[in-house]
Amino acid sequence: MQTEIHTQIDAYFEQNFLKPDPILDRIAQASTENGLVPHAVTRLQAGFLAMLIQMSRAKTVLEIGCLGGYSAVAMARALPDTGRLLTTEIDTRTAKIAQANIDGSGFGDRIELRVGPAMDVLNQERAAGSIFDFVFIDADKVNHKNYLERALEMSKPGSVIVADNIVRGGAVLDAQSQENSVKGVRDMIAFARTLDHVQMTAMQTVGEKGYDGMAIFRVGDP
Ligand code: DHB
Ligand code: MG
Repeated sequence: MQTEIHTQIDAYFEQNFLKPDPILDRIAQASTENGLVPHAVTRLQAGFLAMLIQMSRAKTVLEIGCLGGYSAVAMARALPDTGRLLTTEIDTRTAKIAQANIDGSGFGDRIELRVGPAMDVLNQERAAGSIFDFVFIDADKVNHKNYLERALEMSKPGSVIVADNIVRGGAVLDAQSQENSVKGVRDMIAFARTLDHVQMTAMQTVGEKGYDGMAIFRVGDP
């Protein structure tokens, strides 16, 4: 893969399509300085998520996998003032960094960060009867299918679900893969195929994060 040209084109598009964004830049910088893995969405991808939220007029967002809070802030910012975003982070140290990033963003009043295994948080939310207009699945890929299943259980007609990292440099094609993350993504894709009343599509992406892709689901009327 010509990663270099993809990175250059991401920079070119960022410069021309996006405005300077000191809030997200600060989160990216703090995340790097604190040694978090470089797995946050790119600025262009953050723009895509924000646009989907606005186009679907979502008011309640669930993010599965917070990391440094980059995508949480990008998505929360796209909500109306009354909008709410719940995000989950399994790692206590990462969650502290994320909470500081969220607090510093100016959008902390609409973001709740819950620390713990995402599946526990999802089970609590399901038991509480929560419904989300928009879900971004971006945690451990081993549980990709389980997260999609829960997200669908907490959706309503019109809800949109985006699942990150479904290509993984092409590894997703390998049905014999022994890598748990690849198996998890393939499980999710096989599960998606069984769904009725859910529109879905997928896009391969290239860019500064290399070669990957996202699945997009829209819940229809039963
Ligand atoms: C990985 C995870 C991500 O969420 C991502 O966007 C890129 C890479 C990873 O676990 O390798
Ligand atoms: Mg991801």
